[in-house]
Amino acid sequence: MSFKATLARHPGYTVLITCGVFATLLFLARGPAYTTTVNALAPSKYARSLAQTLNEEELRYQKVLHDREALVRKWGPTADLVQAFPPRDDFYTLWDFFIPAFQCPHHVERVGTMGDGGKWVCGLERIARQKECVIYSFGINGESSFEAELLQRAPGCQVWGYDFSVKSFGPEIERNTSLRERAHFYPWALGPSNNHGPGSNPPVYTLPTLMDINGHNFIDILKVDIEGAEFASLDKFLEFFGMGHPHSPAGPALPIGQMQIEIHARGGTGHDEFAPFKKWWERLEAAGLRPFWAEPNLVYVNLVRGVRPDLAEYSFMNARGRHALVSEDFH
Ligand SMILES: *[C@@H]1O[C@H](CO)[C@@H](O)[C@H](O)[C@H]1NC(C)=O
Repeated sequence: MSFKATLARHPGYTVLITCGVFATLLFLARGPAYTTTVNALAPSKYARSLAQTLNEEELRYQKVLHDREALVRKWGPTADLVQAFPPRDDFYTLWDFFIPAFQCPHHVERVGTMGDGGKWVCGLERIARQKECVIYSFGINGESSFEAELLQRAPGCQVWGYDFSVKSFGPEIERNTSLRERAHFYPWALGPSNNHGPGSNPPVYTLPTLMDINGHNFIDILKVDIEGAEFASLDKFLEFFGMGHPHSPAGPALPIGQMQIEIHARGGTGHDEFAPFKKWWERLEAAGLRPFWAEPNLVYVNLVRGVRPDLAEYSFMNARGRHALVSEDFH
C-alpha cells in the first residue's frame, strides 16, 4: 500500500503525522518563532473549540518545558547539581521548576474547606452532569470536607476512600446518611506492590489492584495524600499502563480524569533531591498529566521554623483520553 493510500485508509496517521510535524516545528522554533505562533492565536480562548484550546495550552506547556531546562542550566548546570532547597545564596526552590502552566479549559474551583484539606478541581460542573462517576481518595486523616462537597455537587459520584490510620471518613460524610450511602471506606494503604495476606498490617494494595477489586476502569477524580508514598505508588501505576519510562511514545491514556496530590519532597522518600524528583515529575508529564494549579503548603514551615518548605499541593488534569475534561460530548 502506498503512503498516500495508507493515509487515506487510516486518518489517524494523518493526525499523528501532523502532530509530529507540529512538535518538530515547535522544537526547532523555541525563541522568536514560538512568539509568532502564540501571538497568532485567536484573541480569546473562549472562541475556540475544546480540542483547539487544549492544543494551544499544550503549545504553551511545551515552552515551559524548554524554560525548565534553561533554569536547570542556570542553577546546575546539570540536574544532579541542582539542589532542591539551596541552604544559602541561590534564589529558588524546587517548586520554581514545576509550575502549573497548563490551564484547565473549564471552571476551576477550590472544593472542601479553606486551608489544609480543600483542593482545586477542574470542570466539576461537567463531572456533575455524568450519570456515574468514580472518586478515589487516599489519605483521609479524619477530614472529608473535599469528598463531601464533591458528593454533594455531583449526585452521580461515589467515593472510595483508603487510609490505614483512621477507621472511617471524616464527620462531613459520616454524619450525613445520604452521603454515606455513596461512600466506601477501607483501612488499607496504597503502595507500589500488593501485600495484603494474613498478618500484613496494614494491608497494602496497588491502585490497579483496587480498581480491579472495585470493577472500575476509570477514576474521574483521584486524591492522593499519603505522606511520601506517592512517588513509588504512582510510578508503579504508570508502569502498569506501560508508561514507566520518561519520553516513551504516547501510550494508551492513563485511566484518570484529574489528580489532586499533596507532594512530600522529604528525606526518606528518595525524592527529596532535585534529579530524582524531576525524573518522577517528567514521568507524570510523559503520561499526559498536566498541572493546572499549585499551592505550597506552609503549615509546617510556620510551625517548625527552619524546616524545608517541601510540601506542595498540585492539581493535574489528564490531557489525553476520552473523559469530561477533554471530550466535548462526554456525559
Ligand atoms: C446531606 O447531604 C444531602 C445531599 O447533598 C443534602 O441535601 C443534605 O442537606 C445533607 N444533610 C445534612 C444534615 O447536612
